[in-house]
Amino acid sequence: MVTVAVAGGGGGIGSDIVQAILKSNKHEVIVLSRSSQPLLTKQGVDVKIVDYGSVEQLEVTLRVISCIAAYGTNSTAAELSLLEAAKKAHVARFVPSEWNSPCHDVVDLYSGKGTVWKAVQSSGLEYTRFINGLWMNVWGPGCIRDEEEALGAYKNRPPFAIDLKAGTAIIPGDPSQKMVLTKTQDVGLFVAAALDLPNWEPESRIAGDTLTFTEVIQLVKRICGKDLRITHMSVENLQELLKGDIDSGERFYYQLLLAVALGRMGFEPTLNDLCPDIKPVSTAEYIKRHWTCD
Ligand SMILES: NC(=O)c1ccc[n+]([C@@H]2O[C@H](COP(=O)([O-])OP(=O)(O)OC[C@H]3O[C@@H](n4cnc5c(N)ncnc54)[C@H](OP(=O)(O)O)[C@@H]3O)[C@@H](O)[C@H]2O)c1
Repeated sequence: MVTVAVAGGGGGIGSDIVQAILKSNKHEVIVLSRSSQPLLTKQGVDVKIVDYGSVEQLEVTLRVISCIAAYGTNSTAAELSLLEAAKKAHVARFVPSEWNSPCHDVVDLYSGKGTVWKAVQSSGLEYTRFINGLWMNVWGPGCIRDEEEALGAYKNRPPFAIDLKAGTAIIPGDPSQKMVLTKTQDVGLFVAAALDLPNWEPESRIAGDTLTFTEVIQLVKRICGKDLRITHMSVENLQELLKGDIDSGERFYYQLLLAVALGRMGFEPTLNDLCPDIKPVSTAEYIKRHWTCD
C-alpha cells in the first residue's frame, strides 16, 4: 500500500482519480484542497486544507498527483509550489497536471503546463505525465441518459466540437486524422493501476479509443440515426480566426481545435498494454449508453 496525495482531488479529473483509487482498495489517498470537501470527508478521505502560497506549510506525502486546473499564472504558481514541497519531502513520485496531449505551444492557456513540465523534468524526482487525448465526456452535455456518468470530470461546460443535442459538428483539419478519446473515469482507473507499477516512464499515454472525425460522425448516424450538420475548419481558417479580435474563451476553443487539426490528439498508447485488465469504454459504447434510450 502507498499513500498518495491528490491536489485538487475534489474537482474534475482529480475526483475521478480519487474515486478510482478508493475503489481499488489498495492505497491510501489524501486530498489537498484550498477548502473543506465535505463529500470526500464523508467518504472517509483525509482532506488537508493547503495554502499553495507557502511551500513550508505544504506537507506532501510519498506520491503526489496534481489535478489542479492548469490555466493561468495562479495555478502554475500553485503547481510549482507543490513541486518544491515534493522535492523538500523527497517524494517518490510526482505527476503534473497535464491530462490532455502535449500542445503547450498551441494553446496559450496551457503555457503554464510547459513551465511546470520543464521544472518537473529537472526536479530529480521520478515522474510521469498522463497523456489521455480528448476527454470523451466532452460529448456528454445535454445527453438523454445517465448524465452524471456521461459528464464525469467534465461538469458545467459546453460540448466540444460535436454538439449531439444541437446536431452539429465542427471538423478541425483533416477529417481522416486519428485522435484519442478517453473517458475521465477510465483515466482514473489507469492512474490507480499505475500506482502499482514498479517504475514510471516519463510519459504514460492512455487511449480509451482512437477514431477519426469521419468515424465519429458515422457512429452517430449508425447509433442515433442522426445526420450531423458539419462545418469544416482548416488549419488556415483557424489560424486566421486566431489573428482576429476574439475573447479569451473563443481563443481557448479555437486553439484547442487547432491542436486537434495539427494532429496533437493522435498518439500511440503506452499504459494500456501495462494495464491489460482495464477495458476502457469505446466511443460507440459511450454514444449508445448516453444518447439512445435502449
Ligand atoms: N483532455 C481534456 O479534454 C481535458 C478537458 C478539461 C480539462 N483537462 C485538463 O485536466 C486538468 C484538470 O482540469 P479540471 O477540469 O479537472 O479542473 P477543475 O475541476 O476546474 O479544477 C480542479 C481543482 O483545481 C484546484 N484549483 C483551481 N484553481 C486553482 C489555483 N489557482 N490554485 C490551486 N488549485 C486550484 C481546485 O481545487 P481546490 O479548490 O479543492 O483547491 C479545483 O477543484 C487540467 O490540466 C486541464 O487542462 C483536460
